[in-house]
This record gives sequence, C-alpha cells and structure tokens, in this order.
Amino acid sequence: MTIPLIIDTDPGVDDAFALALAARSPEVDLLGVTTVFGNVSIDHTTRNARRLLALLGSDSPVARGADRALGDVSRPDARHVHGDDGLSGKAFTLPEDDRIDARDAVEFLRDTIDSSPTPVTIAAIGPLTNIARLLDTHAGRVGRLVVMGGGLTGGNVTPHAEFNIWSDAEAAHRVFAERPVLVPIDLTRRCAVDGAWLESLTGRIGTTLAGLTTRYREFYLEANGIDGILVHDAVAVAEAINPGILTTRPHLLAVDTANGDTHGAIVPGTHPVDVAEDTDVEALRAFLHERLSGS
Ligand code: BDR
Ligand code: CA
Repeated sequence: MTIPLIIDTDPGVDDAFALALAARSPEVDLLGVTTVFGNVSIDHTTRNARRLLALLGSDSPVARGADRALGDVSRPDARHVHGDDGLSGKAFTLPEDDRIDARDAVEFLRDTIDSSPTPVTIAAIGPLTNIARLLDTHAGRVGRLVVMGGGLTGGNVTPHAEFNIWSDAEAAHRVFAERPVLVPIDLTRRCAVDGAWLESLTGRIGTTLAGLTTRYREFYLEANGIDGILVHDAVAVAEAINPGILTTRPHLLAVDTANGDTHGAIVPGTHPVDVAEDTDVEALRAFLHERLSGS
C-alpha cells in the first residue's frame, strides 16, 4: 500500500531535492505540497514549489501557507545560502506554472487529512508555522510527522539553533507535543554529498537539480571549505518514504522559545520526540542518487 504524503516546504535548494525524491518514489502518493516562508519569501517558495512539480511532471496541488512566524515575529531569511530566488538564482530554468490551490495551506491540510481513508504522513521541511496551526484542530490525526530541524549539539543559524526551528520556535514547540520524528542537522551533516555525486546525476531531472545548486554549493565552499552540499530535507523525506531508513531513539525535549541567545535551541523537556540519530550513510546517498537520476 502506498503512503499518502504531504510535504510542507520552503524551497530552497535542498527542499528541491526532497520534492524530487518524493515525486519519483512509488512508495508514496504525493497528495499535495504546502508552502511556508523560510529560506526566502512565501511568494518565492510558492512559485518554486509549483515550478519544481512542473519539472517533475507532477500534478499534485500546491497550497500557499504562512508568510511569517506565529506571533508575527520576523527573522532574517536564508537567501545568502539559497540565492535571492531560493534556487541559486536558477528558478528561471524551471517550467512556468502558476496553478495554486485556492485554499490556504492549513485549510488544504485539514481537508486532505479528513478525506484520506488512511492516515496521512506529513514531511515538514521548513519553519513549522502551518503545522502548528493545523494541530489547533487536528492534534492526534496526522499519520506520521517527520520534521527536518534542530541540532542537538549546536546550530547552523546561531551557535545553539537550527534554521527551521529558530524561524518559528513557538510553532516548533507546539509540534513537539505531537511526537514527531525529528531529523536534526547532527545527522544530515553526516549525509553531505560531494561535487562528484552532484555532477554524476543523470537525466533531465538529475541535471536540472544539479544546476540549481550553484549558489548553495558556493556557500558551503565559502563557509565550511567543503566541495559539496547538505541535502538536509531529502534525508527527512527519505524517512517519510521509507520508514526505518533512519535509526531513531526517543528523547524528552522542548524548544527554547525565550528571546535570548539560545532562542530556538532544542533543550531537555517533557515531550517524547523520536530523534533520527543514525543511518547507513553510503546506502542513503546511493538511494538518493538512484531516485534523482534517469529520465
Ligand atoms: C534547513 O534550513 C533550510 O535552510 C533548509 O532548507 C533546511 O530545511 C536546514 O537547517
Ligand atoms: Ca527547507
């Protein structure tokens, strides 16, 4: 039986890889994609999601979501990492497509969950604003909730916080009460792919995806001195498609929502969260490469 899946996303170069992985995986039925602000503005993330699905030949609906965090907080985006348009300045290489679902992301999520005969998995790979709002009415009604975010041993946007959690810490704290599978940067960093991996992607999809990485790849070279990229979101979506591909262990956690230096950090708490701690890294890289290559 296929797994019904919705991806909540802020594309974003690694989000593009994650969407492609889901659209090209027969184990899942991609019921839709909901967008959120994050790496760039909601206008850009929504346009990018729609165009990426057009590239992938997918008719899955795209519904536009939150343009800012709960509580109206505004924090800097990640255009210095992903490029001004969110896709290394290469969004123009994707097919035009402006079909956006008339419903708001949260309404779309509610309707889709309510009308699915089997529990829907959500892969949340951006700030968690839409998902926190969904849980106001649908707590306990999501199948699996796989979240890319957090860093247990430090952050990537501050020394303590990871970008998705930091961008809407209040929403993340709410989502932790739903026992998500959390895929943190501690693991996604170990799953980095190098320049040779990217350049050996084949076919129209693989080469287009590789072409969207120019700015993103430059960023990692400048910031970390590595020739390669982190495919954070694709690691999380791999777990949504293939439950158990990552090894998880329960932790009791919370999110620091105070407005101090440690805002957005993952801290000890009372919510059980299944943290992805390990995987067969080489097998995961091979799985991604195979799924993203070919016609
Ligand atoms: C997360 O932040 C974003 O920049 C990426 O798309 C990923 O979802 C990694 O910290
Ligand atoms: Ca993302």
